[in-house]
Amino acid sequence: MVLSEQELSVVVARLAAEISADYHGRDLVVVGVLRGSVIFVADLIRRLTVPVRLDFVALSSYGDRVSSSGEVRLHKDLEESVEDRHLLIVEDIVDTGLTLRYLLTSMQTRGAASVKSCALLDKPSRREVDTRVDYVGKVVPDEFLVGYGLDYAQRYRNLPYVGVLRRELCES
Ligand code: IMP
Ligand code: MG
Repeated sequence: MVLSEQELSVVVARLAAEISADYHGRDLVVVGVLRGSVIFVADLIRRLTVPVRLDFVALSSYGDRVSSSGEVRLHKDLEESVEDRHLLIVEDIVDTGLTLRYLLTSMQTRGAASVKSCALLDKPSRREVDTRVDYVGKVVPDEFLVGYGLDYAQRYRNLPYVGVLRRELCES
């Protein structure tokens, strides 16, 4: 087990407190990255004490495999303009960093007032591009994780905890 239900709630509360303090007096647009971040983002925003708007993007760099294809595709764009707004991109996990770098660049070129990032999990040992993650829930080793939104081939997102996918299941 990487994060139990109880540990997840402690981590989310800590991140929400940090973010609420940093954005005190400002409005925030939380940009959830579909689909992996939905559960995390839902828990996180309920603990934020600043005014929040919620928007989503959908990207993929993975297909149904356990290793990145290296290519980022945008499937669904934001619904609202980000011009002059403070954005917080919320990811389930930052792995190679390609998805996050793509999003940070894209949001900055659209004239956001500021762009920061928050990831429940960070796997820095897998980083291919230098990407800053401003708020990290937990640094994890290079293992394939599922649950609490994270999937393997679209399964296991509904597990209430984060666990390591057994190798036999990846290879089957
Ligand atoms: P990156 O672009 O390589 O940083 O990949 C980011 C995306 O890959 C995340 O949003 C996840 O959807 C997916 N991903 C990376 N590592 C894992 C993992 O261990 N389990 C499930 N999904 C993962
Ligand atoms: Mg995914």
